[in-house]
Amino acid sequence: MSTVKRLPAFEKFIQELRAAWATLPDTESRMTKGRDLLAELVKDETMRESCQRWPDTDGGRRNLLFYEDPDYGFAINGVVHSAERKGSIHDHAHSWTAYGILAGTETLERFRRVDDGSKEGYAKLELESVTQGTPGKVDLVPPFDIHAEQGGPAISYGLILRSERVAGKVLQGNYNMETGLYRRIEGPTNVPYEITG
Ligand SMILES: [Fe+2]
Repeated sequence: MSTVKRLPAFEKFIQELRAAWATLPDTESRMTKGRDLLAELVKDETMRESCQRWPDTDGGRRNLLFYEDPDYGFAINGVVHSAERKGSIHDHAHSWTAYGILAGTETLERFRRVDDGSKEGYAKLELESVTQGTPGKVDLVPPFDIHAEQGGPAISYGLILRSERVAGKVLQGNYNMETGLYRRIEGPTNVPYEITG
């Protein structure tokens, strides 16, 4: 049994999420509440200090797995992105994702699919929007939304709330804008990591 004590701000976040899952009727309303809770957590100084100790996740396509709820299934992940990283274009299958930045900046790209989906292994994309992800901001990504996170001028730290863990359960979309190649692939490997206080 783990005797590790969680960082209090992180433990509070988990309990507030559990309350949201217990009281709200559907995934969209739970994740909208979760996004608001995450927006508070990414401003917390103790969380911002803690992320500086996280191991790098860019090498080998990894997510740190901080928590997966045993009753409701929501999952909390972290990523450490190196400066100027080139993020792949992807979706998160049927799950909802809230993506918040603790430190550093990233460029968040959204794409729209403009073909009719009839050609196997092919997707034609158009860039829909580009927004700056800055510390304290949280982006809510609905099911199958196509997007990419591009690195900023310095290392960046992202905190992610997922309606459920995707990696290891279902394949998620991966897109190449230049060639039109569309595949469904395994998501990043989840590496368990405790946020301690
Ligand atoms: Fe993503």
